[in-house]
Amino acid sequence: MKRTTHALRALAAALALALTASPALAQDKVKVGLMLPYTGTYAALGNAITNGFKLAIAEQGGKLGGRDIDYVTVDDESEPAKAPENVNKLIKRDNVDVIVGTVHSGVAMAMAKAAKDNNALLLIPNAGEDSITGPMCAPNIIRTSFTNSAAGVAMGKVAADKGYKTAVTLTWKYAAGEQSTGGFKEAFEKGGGKVVKELTLPFPQVEFQPLLTEIAALNPDVVYAFFAGGGAVKFVKDYAAAGLNKTIPLVGPGFLTDGTLEAQGEAAQGMLTTLHYGEGVNNPKNTAFRAAYTKAYKVEPDVYAVQGYDAAQLLIAGANAVKGDLGKRADVVKAMETAKLDSPRGPLALTKAHAPIHDIYLRKVEGKENKVIGVAVKNITDPPRGCKL
Ligand code: BEZ
Repeated sequence: MKRTTHALRALAAALALALTASPALAQDKVKVGLMLPYTGTYAALGNAITNGFKLAIAEQGGKLGGRDIDYVTVDDESEPAKAPENVNKLIKRDNVDVIVGTVHSGVAMAMAKAAKDNNALLLIPNAGEDSITGPMCAPNIIRTSFTNSAAGVAMGKVAADKGYKTAVTLTWKYAAGEQSTGGFKEAFEKGGGKVVKELTLPFPQVEFQPLLTEIAALNPDVVYAFFAGGGAVKFVKDYAAAGLNKTIPLVGPGFLTDGTLEAQGEAAQGMLTTLHYGEGVNNPKNTAFRAAYTKAYKVEPDVYAVQGYDAAQLLIAGANAVKGDLGKRADVVKAMETAKLDSPRGPLALTKAHAPIHDIYLRKVEGKENKVIGVAVKNITDPPRGCKL
């Protein structure tokens, strides 16, 4: 009897050892690569996306499709030159099951290329580079945020409807800013206005003074500017310090005042912006999300937190369809393509090109809130722009 018990114990121990070492079990965890900016002018955006993502996962008991998660985190520094190496490490060295990133459109382009070349699953929780859901689209690349030109188009129409006739645009000279101001110009001029000057400075410079002097001399009816994160804080404050906000209204995509109002204070008051989110979006999901986020992180969420949350919500939909086995790619993507998400921004679905379909709100800064004062474009659907899926 004693000998049998011994033998059984030995067998159980051997079995346990074999199972722990088994690659099949090691694969049971889902490996998520977070490639986001954690330093530089977009650091706050990367942190908010990470927080939002992890909040949605926490609401699933910390699991994805029932499996535990290993995170591999990379600070991309919003530096396009370092992006190919960073993303290839995640794909080839760390062997992640899915990559979530990033904020900066230039970095995202390198990520999209690597994802295409290696057939890696990529979820984009911010970068709005238009071509990623256009000619660069792919079955394995999905965006839960926005396209850069969309908020610009919405604000161009708002500005033309307000009767402004002349505008100056101002942005960092890179894809996101150029597509945002390009969208504004297209809609503003369609509505009868004229963009009299398109000003730029290199990313992420914040020496705005010479540009503010030029704006004062041009004296347009309105200024449309694209900046985000630390750069947006400084620009809005410099614009007010130069006294320009008293005579020339400053408008922009919501990134100009999102997650920044605490620091911008008085300088941002009354500003109009367009975006797919605003603190006061009135739905039960937003109320619950804001309460949970504030409880977890002791800060108010912003649009970037929402986008991170939604990237995780979409991934959860995909992972649940395959019980966490993200290797079943076709089923994962199909579940994501057909998901109807209850987002804090409102209902969220995807176009065929994997771009979000959502409302774009008109917002006005009141105190520390981007108050939603209307819907600028209902159910905006990004045009396929040559995407063939
Ligand atoms: C972009 O690079 O696509 C981007 C960065 C910050 C806010 C919005 C867009």
